[in-house]
Amino acid sequence: MSVVLGIETSCDETAAAVVDEDLHVRSSVIESSIDQHRAFGGVVPELAGRAHVATIGPVVRRALLEAGLDPHAPAIDAIAVTSGPGLIGSLLVGLSAAKGYALAWGVPFVGVNHLEGHLFAPLLEQSDLEWPLLTLLVSGGHTMIVLQRGPGEHQVLGETIDDAAGEAYDKVARWLGLGYPGGPEIDRLAERGDETALKLPVSMTGDDLDFSFSGLKTAVVRATEKHREVGVGDVAASFQAAVAEQLLRKLRSALEHYEVRGVALAGGVAANSALRRGVAELASEFGVICHLPSMAMCTDNAAMIAAAGLHRLKSSGPSELSLAARPNWQLAEVS
Ligand code: KG4
Ligand code: ZN
Repeated sequence: MSVVLGIETSCDETAAAVVDEDLHVRSSVIESSIDQHRAFGGVVPELAGRAHVATIGPVVRRALLEAGLDPHAPAIDAIAVTSGPGLIGSLLVGLSAAKGYALAWGVPFVGVNHLEGHLFAPLLEQSDLEWPLLTLLVSGGHTMIVLQRGPGEHQVLGETIDDAAGEAYDKVARWLGLGYPGGPEIDRLAERGDETALKLPVSMTGDDLDFSFSGLKTAVVRATEKHREVGVGDVAASFQAAVAEQLLRKLRSALEHYEVRGVALAGGVAANSALRRGVAELASEFGVICHLPSMAMCTDNAAMIAAAGLHRLKSSGPSELSLAARPNWQLAEVS
């Protein structure tokens, strides 16, 4: 049975995982440099790159040991590594490490698109996945609705024209003086806030499946300056409701247009409680299976990269050692 070592270093997580052909996760190790970025209110690329350099070796070693493999000569068949999109300095650390290990251990390696990795996350948790599947992929860097006809067969139906949903959360949190990343904090505050406290616009009400969040962020700034009496919990609840409404409205529209067997949430913002509730409700309304990732599968991890890599190895074969990192690699360009 094929066993793949996955490596992920596209942003602030240094991750390694060992996954087998049956998509059984034998180990998954994640280290994050997030604590170093908090003071800056966002990920500082140079700090993230340096943290990967320090952490990649120990993280890979731990993943191999936890999978019961010899860290010097592991019995693996291939290495899958995120080669884009992401921060160039961070991507290069994982990609160079993967090439070095591949040469040292005499195994092939394959470059994986990080977003395609997210699309494989539900497969690691639910073996009864049925196709076609509509996935709402929402993270700090991306917001898109993807139609999947099978593993690796994806079509981007719509995406954000400006900020990603997670980015909007982080920016609004910063404006409200909350910590970074802002999503979890706003989510927590919103649970006890009044979502009708602030009138915020719902952007992108047209028929297409694209999103926009930068206007919403500006609207929050304006509304809070005007209504200083509104408490932070109520602002958080109003903002969260507006984000969820836009995301769910587009997902509903996609469900009306495409006949699918299931809907899935993926990416860091998939941890959001309002969104999870809304997607579950939509799924039951449309009579489709709902795939909500566990909290561990929402964040960046290497198991999903290994899973996508297993598929890419079968469909397109290994990558050349000359493979370059692609910081702006679009999901639509993956084939
Ligand atoms: O996928 P991810 O871990 O990293 C990227 O690839 O971007 O997503 C991180 C994003 C951050 O913007 C963070 O604020 C957001 O996910 N996030 C949340 C929640 N948990 C994390 N946003 C809303 N609600 C949450 N509970
Ligand atoms: Zn991600």
